[in-house]
Amino acid sequence: MLDGKRILLIIGGGIAAYKALDLIRRLRDRGASVTPVLTRAAEEFVTPLTVGALAGQKVYRALFDLTDEAEMGHIQLSRSADLVVVVPATADLMAKMAGGHADDLASTLLMATDKPVLIAPAMNVRMWLHPATQRNLALLQADGIRVVGPDDGAMACGEFGPGRMAEPMDILAAIDHAFAPGPLSGKHILVTSGPTHEPIDPVRYIANRSSGAQGTAIAAALVALGAGVTFITGPASVPPPAGVHLVRVETAAEMLAAVEAALPADAAIFAAAVADWRVANASDTKLKKDGSGRAPALDFAQNPDILATVSAMAEGRPRLVVGFAAETNDVLANATAKRARKGCDWIVANDVRPATGIMGGAENEVTLITEEGSEHWPRLSKDAVAERLAARIVEALA
Ligand code: CTP
Repeated sequence: MLDGKRILLIIGGGIAAYKALDLIRRLRDRGASVTPVLTRAAEEFVTPLTVGALAGQKVYRALFDLTDEAEMGHIQLSRSADLVVVVPATADLMAKMAGGHADDLASTLLMATDKPVLIAPAMNVRMWLHPATQRNLALLQADGIRVVGPDDGAMACGEFGPGRMAEPMDILAAIDHAFAPGPLSGKHILVTSGPTHEPIDPVRYIANRSSGAQGTAIAAALVALGAGVTFITGPASVPPPAGVHLVRVETAAEMLAAVEAALPADAAIFAAAVADWRVANASDTKLKKDGSGRAPALDFAQNPDILATVSAMAEGRPRLVVGFAAETNDVLANATAKRARKGCDWIVANDVRPATGIMGGAENEVTLITEEGSEHWPRLSKDAVAERLAARIVEALA
């Protein structure tokens, strides 16, 4: 709950501004008060009337409004909140913040505030990936600005990729954390999850039965302890957790690239069931029966081992690298050998014989293998396994 918390909500000028309306409602449902500030551009997307009605408060719109200055000056306004939230943070607003501009009410408040600031970036994928935006992002993060999202996905402009604003529930989770920093706050942890899909042709692929449930639970447990989590997931059957930086991938090669792009990290947890092989002669067009009755011959190539690649990094290796070992026999011996072979710090080993019901199920029974030896945990829900593992990660990163 956010009872009595005062949020100064700066709404930027982007199509995602409509999500700010939902956020205001949810914040008030949780007991927070919301003081809205609209940039001039934001008024092109949402009306001051709607925002004011939802917030139940005066909407602040322009810097040189003398009435406002008499009522509450911009300095006082910037200090009267417990948290400043920028939704959506456009490329322009981020650039202003990074450059220290103060040429309208929103940017002046952001310069004048002495309170924590959380931004939810939203923009076209090219604008997000532009070196200028990435430079500004790094500057803002170095200044201690908290960032939630953006997500990967289809955007209003018709393009696809990172840039879509985090969903209101994710922004709420980030707001909760801003008020209750956990033992992992300030730590960046990368989690891979789900299966990978390796294409045979544009409509067919090779996959496995991983649901992504355990990786999702681990990411959620880490978020709950305050970590900034980059969640890199293949096409899983469970929805991704709230409050993460979400990166969706399909193939093992894409997952490796996403992992490398997400580094540096304090810890990396490789819970994904990555396909060991891909189809080397995948076709660009749909394979057709040729009438001979013969099946097409598929050639396989080995995929890069993401866990082993990151474990072996000479520079930029996360302090803690955790792998999983899905085994059907000699679990302890196989997993112990796997830890040595892959060069990771810990292995979470489990028995995935169908009789255990673990793969795709709600429970897991694991053995944690570290340098010190092995530790068998009882059969627990995947959420409980995740919480135990997250608690161990807290100790390891302390
Ligand atoms: N893994 C990975 N990249 C791969 C394959 C696996 O990062 N290309 C990671 C998984 O995320 C997991 C660990 O390696 O953390 C072990 O995966 P598993 O499939 O159990 O082991 P394999 O490498 O396939 O070994 P084996 O074939 O001997 O079972």
